[in-house]
Parts: sequence; C-alpha cells; structure tokens
Amino acid sequence: MKAIVQDAYGSADRLELRDIDRPVPRDDEVLVEIRAAGLGPEVWHLMTGRPLMARVALGLRKPKNPVRGWDGAGRVESVGSKVTDFKPGDEVFGNCEGSFAEYARAKASKLAHKPVNLTFEQAAALPVSAMTALQALSGTARPRPGQQVLVIGASGGVGCYAVQLATMYGAEVTGVCGPGGADFVRSQGAAHVIDYTAGDITGGPHDSPRRYDVIVDNAGQRPLPVLRRVLAPRGTLVIVGGEGGTAFFGGLTRGLRAALLSPFVGQNLRNLVSTARREDLLALKDLTENGKLVPPVDRTYPLAETAEAVRHLERGHPRGKLVITV
Ligand SMILES: NC(=O)c1ccc[n+]([C@@H]2O[C@H](COP(=O)([O-])OP(=O)(O)OC[C@H]3O[C@@H](n4cnc5c(N)ncnc54)[C@H](OP(=O)(O)O)[C@@H]3O)[C@@H](O)[C@H]2O)c1
Repeated sequence: MKAIVQDAYGSADRLELRDIDRPVPRDDEVLVEIRAAGLGPEVWHLMTGRPLMARVALGLRKPKNPVRGWDGAGRVESVGSKVTDFKPGDEVFGNCEGSFAEYARAKASKLAHKPVNLTFEQAAALPVSAMTALQALSGTARPRPGQQVLVIGASGGVGCYAVQLATMYGAEVTGVCGPGGADFVRSQGAAHVIDYTAGDITGGPHDSPRRYDVIVDNAGQRPLPVLRRVLAPRGTLVIVGGEGGTAFFGGLTRGLRAALLSPFVGQNLRNLVSTARREDLLALKDLTENGKLVPPVDRTYPLAETAEAVRHLERGHPRGKLVITV
C-alpha cells in the first residue's frame, strides 16, 4: 500500500510517499481503508520529534511508527478477533495512527461510525480537534447561557470547534485570531473578534468584554498573570496548547504551572491533555448529524502532496482544518 513514511525526525522534507506492507490489526483493532486524514499540529510534533521530551514516548532516535497521520475516516476492511462493534464495510472515523496511508490500524475503542451526513473529508476533520474542544469546554469550563467565553487561537483546528460549541451552549464568544481570520471566526459563531496583531486580550481596539467566565487558550504562550487578569474571579482557564517554549518542554510548562497554582487561587486553572474515546466521538456524531456542529475544511491535499500540506500548516493561517485525501 502507499503511505507517507519518514525514517528520521525533521522537517516536511523527510516525508516520502512509499509502498509498504499493509498493517495487520491486533485482536482489539480494526483495519481501516483510509479515505481522508486530518492534519494538525500533532502531526508536526510527531514529524519533528519536538518538544524533545516527547521522544521518550515517540522513539528516542527516530519515530517508532514511521507512518505519519493521526486522525482518519474510511471504511472498515477487517476486524480483530475481539472486535464486536464494527464489521467490514462500516464507515468509521476516529484516531487511526499512521492514517496518511491507504490502510491504518485503529483501536476499536477510539473509533465510531461516521456521521451519516458528513463526507469522509469532513469526518476526518473532527477527531482530535473537536474532541479537544469538547473536553476543554467540560466541567467548570462548560459555559452557561449568557456567560462570556474567550477562545484564543479561534481560527485554527481546535479553536473553530471551541467557538461553535461555546456558542451552542449559549455563551457570548470572543475569538482571538490573526489578521484575515475575523470573518471566519464570526462565521463559527463568535460575537467579537480580537486580531492579536492589532490589540491584545487585555486592551487594544476591540469591543469585547474585559473579564471572561471561561478562557480556552490554544495559542500564543501568554503568561498566566496576563490570562488571569482577564479571567473572572471564579472563572475557568483551560490551557490547551500553544507552540513555542523551550526545545525540551515546548509549550507544556505553562499548563503545568497553571494546574499547580489552581488549588491556591479562586480561579480554576486547568491544563488539558485530551484523550481519544468513543463516547466523545459519538457525541460529535450526534452534534454533526443534528447540524449543531459543522467541520470547517479549509483545504484538502492528495496523499502525494502531504509534505506541502504540512508546510501550509507551518506557515500558519488555516481556517479550520486541513485534510489529506487518500
Ligand atoms: N492539549 C491537548 O490535548 C491538545 C490537543 C490538540 C491540540 N493541542 C495543541 O493546541 C494548539 C492549537 O491546535 P490547533 O489544531 O487549533 O492549531 P492550528 O490549527 O494551527 O491553530 C492555531 C490558531 O492559533 C492562532 N494564533 C497563532 N498565534 C497566535 C497568537 N499569538 N495569539 C492568538 N492566536 C494565535 C492562529 O491564527 P492565525 O493562523 O491567524 O495566526 C490559529 O487560529 C497546538 O499547540 C496543538 O499542539 C493540544
């Protein structure tokens, strides 16, 4: 089968389209004939082996799994002996490591049947990004109607879903994005938009409120004191991500500091590490089939042009998700 493979960590130049053996599913796994695969920063991290601490799990000298890709949507080709929920021919979506390939193995517990009204491309745009937004806006961060929510990095993969979900919960949403992203972020449901190059969240030329009940932080590495200044006294901050930081820890230290500080302050400060699970995929299936959540696919690239798609991601400014078609 054809697959996007890399033999060493590095830039998108390392990604090669090659013929390799088709994977064989284990007892609790499904072999998926991939039709489309989502592309986001997680692929960049797997490709570069950055931050360096991630290599403890990914492989110290080179990636343990040489095939790139994380999310996928396609048809079940075969199932392992312990899989009872899926059968060959079913259309599925979810977490399929090595999804930039014609076939990928996936744990049955991290898959669900594809929403019937979505294309494979749209379904592949959901898993990690939409599950992360869903998990970010849960617990004390689930906004009540009328509450103020700030989504930092609102035009990207996680941000677009966070804006849609917070709006659906009845919140008044302010989205932070780069120049040119405002119309897209408003189209996802935001009432206010802040261009991070024109004015920052604590001031500048924008009409948004200055204290938020919930902040979902996906980008920009703003220091915790800056975020806490615009968070309501009993509000919840969820640190989801943000590129940059040190070579070893990347952007991870801010989230850890937030979690350590949280017990000692009135505000709730959370660090999110999202997990792929069927119950959340089923919630996304329900939301998309009811028209409450719409996956925005900015652009699709054929498998052979995956390296160019990753370069697009690195240059920034995708509106929603990039998707590889297989
Ligand atoms: N915690 C978890 O479990 C988890 C799960 C998934 C992803 N993540 C992480 O979450 C982050 C976001 O992922 P994503 O898929 O949404 O990435 P993405 O699609 O690349 O989106 C990034 C967004 O951030 C905006 N942005 C860039 N610089 C900014 C700044 N200084 N201030 C405010 N906004 C800025 C971008 O706008 P422009 O393009 O206009 O600049 C874009 O809207 C990544 O770091 C990713 O690794 C974490």
